[in-house]
Amino acid sequence: MAIEIDQQVSTTGSSCIELSNVANSDTHGEDSPYFAGWKAYDENPYDEIANPSGVIQMGLAENQVSFDLLEEYLEKNAEKLPTTRKSSGISSFRENALFQDYHGLQSFRKAMASFMGKIRGDKVKFDPERIVLTAGATAANELLTFILANPGDALLVPTPYYPGFDRDLRWRTGVKIVPVHCNSSNNFQVTPQALEDAYKEAESMHMKVRGILITNPSNPLGIAMERKVLEEIFDFVTRKNIHLVSDEIYSGSVFSSTEFINRERLKKRYELIINGLRKVGIECLEGNAGLFCWMNLSPFLKDSTKQSELVLWNSMVNEVKLNVSPGSSCHCDEPGWFRVCFANMSEETLQVSFDLLEEYLENNADKQPTTRKSSGISSFRENALFQDYHGLQSFRKAMASFMGKIRSDKVKFDPERVVLTAGATAANELLTFILANPGDALLVPTPYYPGFDRDLRWRTGVKIVPVHCNSLNNFQVTPQALEDAYKEAESKNIKVRGLLITNPSNPLGIAMERKVVEEILDFVTRKNIHLVSDEIYSGSVFSSTEFVSVAEILEERNYKDAERVHIVYSLSKDLGLPGFRVGTIYSYNDKVVTTARRMSSFSLVSSQTQNLLAAMLSDTKFTENYIKINRERLKKRYQLIIDGLRKAGIECLEGNAGLFCWMNLSPFLKSSTKESELILWNSMVNEVKLNISPGSSCHCDEPGWFRVSFANMSEETLQVVLKRIYKFMETYQKEA
Ligand SMILES: Cc1ncc(COP(=O)(O)O)c(C=O)c1O
Repeated sequence: MAIEIDQQVSTTGSSCIELSNVANSDTHGEDSPYFAGWKAYDENPYDEIANPSGVIQMGLAENQVSFDLLEEYLEKNAEKLPTTRKSSGISSFRENALFQDYHGLQSFRKAMASFMGKIRGDKVKFDPERIVLTAGATAANELLTFILANPGDALLVPTPYYPGFDRDLRWRTGVKIVPVHCNSSNNFQVTPQALEDAYKEAESMHMKVRGILITNPSNPLGIAMERKVLEEIFDFVTRKNIHLVSDEIYSGSVFSSTEFINRERLKKRYELIINGLRKVGIECLEGNAGLFCWMNLSPFLKDSTKQSELVLWNSMVNEVKLNVSPGSSCHCDEPGWFRVCFANMSEETLQVSFDLLEEYLENNADKQPTTRKSSGISSFRENALFQDYHGLQSFRKAMASFMGKIRSDKVKFDPERVVLTAGATAANELLTFILANPGDALLVPTPYYPGFDRDLRWRTGVKIVPVHCNSLNNFQVTPQALEDAYKEAESKNIKVRGLLITNPSNPLGIAMERKVVEEILDFVTRKNIHLVSDEIYSGSVFSSTEFVSVAEILEERNYKDAERVHIVYSLSKDLGLPGFRVGTIYSYNDKVVTTARRMSSFSLVSSQTQNLLAAMLSDTKFTENYIKINRERLKKRYQLIIDGLRKAGIECLEGNAGLFCWMNLSPFLKSSTKESELILWNSMVNEVKLNISPGSSCHCDEPGWFRVSFANMSEETLQVVLKRIYKFMETYQKEA
């Protein structure tokens, strides 16, 4: 793992273009010692052979004590695993690559529900239909906060709590955390009085309390809540009519009962550390769960202040070379407590850390107030363990090179500027969070991809102001249309923060002419606003000379004013891998790169996917061949559908890119209205049984246009499509 707090990127000059309040706020919480400790480890990681004086990672709650059990299972069950399994002739690679239903696989949800039951001794049953899958609990907690509370509302959170909550619950949602103060007098358990006090505090600050978020078993305390406490919390939320979010991420790591091997090993490890610490004179809170213990160094503080705690923490990290997390980073009210992770290293490394601690305490008596093996780790282990939000260097390099290849190597992309996201969906939303505040607008040329209504607006509160384009000039964007849209926003007192273009366009299936891209760049520079260029179809241009990326124009202009330009890309279209969920933001603006990277925690790409694709994309022989053949095939397919439709008397916009054509059925509408378009569309879906997309769903101003995808089926199926269309047109025209 490698976490950098403030990543320095090679600069294109300091930026004068404004970013959103979210981008500028520090509610991401990452400037805490909790994250700084990770950085210290990252810069100087302990290795028993290569770097015995390096920092030992005791700030990362990662479970390696039972990893061998997973590896053993994988080895024994290789034939059942998706990489090799073939079900009914479709390779599972294809199945995995294409599937992207946001309900998640039924089989996986069932397995998850059953596993969650097992962990709770089968005392409760979970319904797979109520399971929503997310990219980790990070995304789950943020998502729930978006759903339960409005900006400015509060969630109550008992202290000490997991430092990541400062980011997950607050940063993008604008929700506030009101602490429920707990202390060592009752082992930091939540009391009804503490809950009432926190609620009153929120009320006195005129905040609406929407819920309470508990972590049970607790991180950082390493203890499960007593039944009585849980009952009291439940009564409290019922009385106040607020929500209860129970983060039970450590529910399977409760080691007071040992019916599972993992629990046995955690218990053993816990006892090892507790006894080891006791021998060097340190006491811990009595724990029964989690991957850490809550260590009390308060007797060793110079004075009982947060400053003293941080002085001690600083010595721990920089002199003793142990990365532990100070209680203050978990908002603990009492100075001197530290969270010490013990499950992410070998027993030998744990012993080393005791020796180091002992030595430190001995040498400083007067002042008293894991290792991962870099060699020989299985790749399963490498993939499964902690996820670095910078993404794998090898994958970012491969991605940057692939993005260059698609543009015939006319431009170079710097891997340090590649930010990975779970698809272009996440990339576009993330950029909107960074560039605009709620109520601000992005200009978007019509017709546009219907998903933008969700991606740019829903959670961000940002508005879309359409740039109206029409068939007179093949729906190309003009300077006049841009000015008109800008003025329209101004007349409504809406601040325009940027323009988002899709080049090549979905749904038009054409790449923008060079002149248009130049005009667009001039426009955003003149208005001092951002330009997001969604180039998700850049590798699917089948007359290759006609695509000009904004990156090329920037290069020609010597990157002048480049800090306002951000490119979005994904492997969903060009490589046909929407199920793998791989997208990127490529920004020329340093602050946007750093912020986007931080924000990508909510929608990471799994390491397994990155490793697989890094290998594939680094193989330039493969990528060059793929790009070439893919283009040839798309061109052939496009010609097939265009010619077929023409035979049925239907014309399309002349396309040169994408996986669809833009079909003009306006001559066949009863009247030139959206209603008539939808009647025709209804017949298409329900009688002809062809699912095509009506132009109105893409905010097209002119009725009668439809987007027809042609690359997701076999040529035989395409022939069936054409036959059905001939038949429909015959009867339709007769009726008319
Ligand atoms: C223009 C555009 N942007 C973004 C997306 C979302 O792609 P992803 O699957 O990478 O999230 C799509 C998908 O159709 C698209 O057409």
